Amino acid sequence: MSILPILHYPDERLHTKAKPVTAVDDSIRKLVADMAETMYAAPGIGLAATQVDMHLRVIVMDISETHDQLLTLINPVIIKAEGKAEREEGCLSVPGIYEPVTRAARIMVKYLNIEGKEVTQEAEGLIGVCIQHEMDHLEGKVFVEYLSRLKQGRIKLKMKKRARETM
Ligand code: NI
Repeated sequence: MSILPILHYPDERLHTKAKPVTAVDDSIRKLVADMAETMYAAPGIGLAATQVDMHLRVIVMDISETHDQLLTLINPVIIKAEGKAEREEGCLSVPGIYEPVTRAARIMVKYLNIEGKEVTQEAEGLIGVCIQHEMDHLEGKVFVEYLSRLKQGRIKLKMKKRARETM
């Protein structure tokens, strides 16, 4: 397993639309293992393949406090969404920025798990938000794009300044 570099907003590559996985094979299992290691090391609770510059519809997630409940979503599709809820979000691609975003309160999501088996799952609360946030990444969307243009501009400046400082 290896830790992969995470792209940081406003890197253009974060706006790439991910392609569906055609088979859950060894290369996908390797990608999932590397993504999980990268997410746990960060540390974070969710990571989309887009964020490690791999443009395939793969997400890893673990919202448990014990960090032993890895959830892998391959080719996820939201088949039902209800209600609205606001929650503060953060993102490994936008370190240090936390802003409230309104999303569906409850979703029904269909995906392939790491065994390639189709799973349909209902999700609400933190996990529901996390799934929607990570699925946005696969569409090339970063959560700060829900914010006002003014706020986005400020965040961009902050990120660029930080990138210069750490170089
Ligand atoms: Ni994110």
